[in-house]
Amino acid sequence: MIENLGNLERTHSCGALRKEDVGQRVTLMGWCAKRRDFGPLTFIDLRDRDGITQIVVNQENAAEAHAKAKEVRGEYVLAVTGEVALRDEGARNPKHATGDVEVQARDLVILNDARTLPFQLDAPATEALAAEELRLKYRYLDLRRPQLQGNLRLRHRLLLEINRYMDEHGFTQIETPNLIKSTPEGARDYIVPSRVQPGRFFALPQSPQIFKQICMIAGLDKYYQIARCFRDEDLRADRQPEFSQLDIEMSFATPDQIFTLVEGLFARVFKLIGVDLPTPFPRFTFAEVMQRFGSDKPDMRIEGMELKDLAPALTETTFAPFAGALGAGGQVKGMAVRGGAAMSRKTLDELQEFARRYGAGALAWIKLGDELSSSLLKALGTETVASMAEAAGTAKGDAVLIVAGKPSVVAASLGALRNEVARREELIREGVYAPLWVTEFPMFEFHEDDGRYYSMHHPFTSPLDEDVPALERAVNGEAQLFAGLRAKAYDAVINGVEVAGGSIRIHRRDVQAIVFKALGMSEETARARFGFFLDALGYGTPPHGGIASGIERTLMVLVPTENIRDVMAFPKTASAQDLMIDAPGEVDQKQLAELHLKIVRD
Ligand code: AMO
Repeated sequence: MIENLGNLERTHSCGALRKEDVGQRVTLMGWCAKRRDFGPLTFIDLRDRDGITQIVVNQENAAEAHAKAKEVRGEYVLAVTGEVALRDEGARNPKHATGDVEVQARDLVILNDARTLPFQLDAPATEALAAEELRLKYRYLDLRRPQLQGNLRLRHRLLLEINRYMDEHGFTQIETPNLIKSTPEGARDYIVPSRVQPGRFFALPQSPQIFKQICMIAGLDKYYQIARCFRDEDLRADRQPEFSQLDIEMSFATPDQIFTLVEGLFARVFKLIGVDLPTPFPRFTFAEVMQRFGSDKPDMRIEGMELKDLAPALTETTFAPFAGALGAGGQVKGMAVRGGAAMSRKTLDELQEFARRYGAGALAWIKLGDELSSSLLKALGTETVASMAEAAGTAKGDAVLIVAGKPSVVAASLGALRNEVARREELIREGVYAPLWVTEFPMFEFHEDDGRYYSMHHPFTSPLDEDVPALERAVNGEAQLFAGLRAKAYDAVINGVEVAGGSIRIHRRDVQAIVFKALGMSEETARARFGFFLDALGYGTPPHGGIASGIERTLMVLVPTENIRDVMAFPKTASAQDLMIDAPGEVDQKQLAELHLKIVRD
């Protein structure tokens, strides 16, 4: 029977009671996590966001409560009043902070019942959890799990710490609008039709980039915001279509000042999990990390496993895959795996499949076991294989994994293999937090699909001062120069996760116009899209720069978890749907008509 709460007030949370409270009369409220029936005694594990307390209902001294306890099922909502008692020595539960005590119920109120749950909440391990789709549909149930509740509280503390730190450093939080015009960050925009302006659309911000720069032009000097960003892009495990950024912009800033600010912030934030993050973060240029680790977000917890150029050991080779790659301006690179000689054929086959996903034609290997073995012995002979192993920097017991091909494919496949092999072979140092800065990103990247250059960061990023003349030449016909242009752009990476990215901006109108031109924008298009911004740049724009840090990405390192959905309350699926509210949904004809829209179905 469901009863009213009335004036009953809770005295403690379900995580609060300790030995010292024995003898107190208390009222707890929460959910029935578990009920065990032993005839005259019924045990209930009562759960709220703070923990679990064991309730005992004894027929002898609480007959009415005991009768009600028999009705209780999983996830019923209860209020229990009773005395705190010490549990017998053998019945204590060290897994719960309240495990030394129990509450001997006098009164029990059923505040609400619950239907049978579509899945079990207290699965012992992540692997045993129900399918994620089902859990997302019933997100309010999944969120009852203590682990997710803990993550959301950590998120709250992270946001508080950020606000404190930014305030201490003289930053002003400024909210920028969500109904705006497109700000290109490399993804597609979510667009919002205007009812009062037929045929016109707002875009949701991919980031507040232009607005924060306008704040600098406005003389606001030090801006920050915890901003919602919206990106319609192909989703991956670490991406969401709607996510949060700590967005920062500073006037008259050098990269060093931005690095120091952000390092201090991360050092503070990591204290939340009791970690002293080493500062300053080491710095590497993009060219260096790509050459050494095959990735612009290398996981520095992995010792060694650097990519080594094997071409010097192959000067004489006629072996077609290697000679062909080297002849066409490609590379042959190898990566030493400590203790890798013990890897099985099956593992190597799986790794080859893995490398192929990143475009590698094949994965060659050398093992330095009791004797030298290699997939290349027949083709290259012992001597060449041995000198390749030496060039890769191996010792006895190691293996070398080798990929040949275009530099981009070699980097992508060996870079991904570095993480994969380290994970499988347990070569990632536990309990280590390894941050770094990656600097001097390329200005532009070439997209094969439409045969043109795009900004690698965004179109407002400044080129290195010394690269400006080459940029001008590139725009004026020497297109081969585009690929080598470097930007004042940087990322912060921790444990292989890109936790922040930013740049020094273009503050001169003429340079901004050149970059728009480099991106293939005619003067008219540039004016139509960014005329307001080009105008603003002409009214006394200070040099400025900034950065944005992904809140979810940071939490993924802090928790830690590989699944971005574990660190947000209401995430979307990999196909950008909210399964709980069933969005995106259809709208009715009337609404469409008001918005001057018609759906065209293929
Ligand atoms: P950028 O696009 O690098 O830069 O984004 C900054 C940081 O935001 C996080 N992030 C994401 N997190 C979750 N889901 C996503 N889809 C997603 N995309 C990005 C990452 C990333 O490092 N306006 C610039 C910043 C600047 O130049 O100041 C920008 O948005 O942690």
